[in-house]
Amino acid sequence: MKDVKGTTRVCGIIGNPVGHSVSPVLQNTLADITGTELVYVPFKVEDNIKAAIEGAYALNVFGLNVTVPHKSAVIECLADIDPIAASIGAVNTLVRTDRGYKGYNTDILGLKRELEEAGIALGGRRVIILGAGGAARAIAFLCAKENASAIYILNRTVSKAENIAASVNEYFEADIAKAMDIADYAGLEGGGYVCIQTTSVGLYPDTDKAPVEDEAFYKKIDAAVDIIYNPAVTKFMKLVKASGKASDGTDKKAYNGLKMLLYQGVSAYELWNNVQISTQQSEEVYKAMCREMGIDE
Ligand code: ATR
Repeated sequence: MKDVKGTTRVCGIIGNPVGHSVSPVLQNTLADITGTELVYVPFKVEDNIKAAIEGAYALNVFGLNVTVPHKSAVIECLADIDPIAASIGAVNTLVRTDRGYKGYNTDILGLKRELEEAGIALGGRRVIILGAGGAARAIAFLCAKENASAIYILNRTVSKAENIAASVNEYFEADIAKAMDIADYAGLEGGGYVCIQTTSVGLYPDTDKAPVEDEAFYKKIDAAVDIIYNPAVTKFMKLVKASGKASDGTDKKAYNGLKMLLYQGVSAYELWNNVQISTQQSEEVYKAMCREMGIDE
C-alpha cells in the first residue's frame, strides 16, 4: 500500500472504460522505483470531458493521461499543445502549466523508443502502415518526422488512408505519404520495408487472423511492429518471421506493442516529473506491467 501524504502529487488516467488499464501499475511502479511521492489513479469519464479537465486542474492534479474515447475531444480543453500532437489531432498526456494543461502525444514517443531499442531505424526507410485509425495517424506523423523515405498507408477503407496521407503531406510540406487499398499490396515495389500493423485484425480472441495472409506480402518486409499485444505473438508477427531472411541476410525482426505501451507511459512520467528514466528502470516497469497483464516477459 502506498504511503500517501498531504504532499503527495496526484496523477491519473481519464477514459472510458479505464478498469482494464495497465497505466496505474506502470506509473505507480515508476513512482516507487524513483522514490517519488506520486500516486496515479483511474478516472472514469463518460462524456463531460471539459468539466473533468477543469475539475482536475482546480483539484491541482499534477498530470494526466487521456485514453479512448477522449484523445481528440480533450484538445479543446487545453491551454497549450505540442505542435505535432496538434497536427495528429490526438493527445494522450497532459502536463500542468500555470495557465492550464499542455497536451502531448507520447504514443508516438513510445513507438519511437520501441523501434530504437529494437534497432529498427525509420530514417531513409520505406514504411508500410497497415490500417488508418487513430494509431495509424499518429504513427504516420512519427515516420515522417523521423525522415522515412516513403510512407504507404494501406487500409480497407481507402478514404481514411487518403485523409491521413493528405494531413502528413500538408504538415511536412512533402509528397511522402501515399494511400493504398490494403487489397492492392502487390503494387508495393521491391522489398526491405519496415511495417507497422495498426489494424485490430488478429486481436484476441481472433488470434488466427492477420490483415494480409499472402506470403508474397511478408517477403517485402524486413522488420515489423504489431501494435497489438494480446496475444503477445500475433499471426502477423509469425507471418513476418516465417517469410525468409531480411534483405541484408539477417533474421527478420517482429515485435508486439508492449514496449510502445511501456514507453508511452515512461515518456509521460518523464514529462510530468522532468526526469530521465533509465533503461534498467524501464525494464523493471516492463516486468511489473507484464505480471499485471499475465504475460510472460
Ligand atoms: P485505432 O484508433 O486503435 O487505430 P480504429 O480507429 O478502430 O483503431 O482503427 C482500426 C483499424 O483496423 C482501421 O484501419 C480498420 O479499417 P477500416 O478503416 O476500413 O475500418 C482496420 N480494420 C478493422 N477490422 C478490419 C478487417 N477485418 N480487415 C481490415 N482492416 C480492418
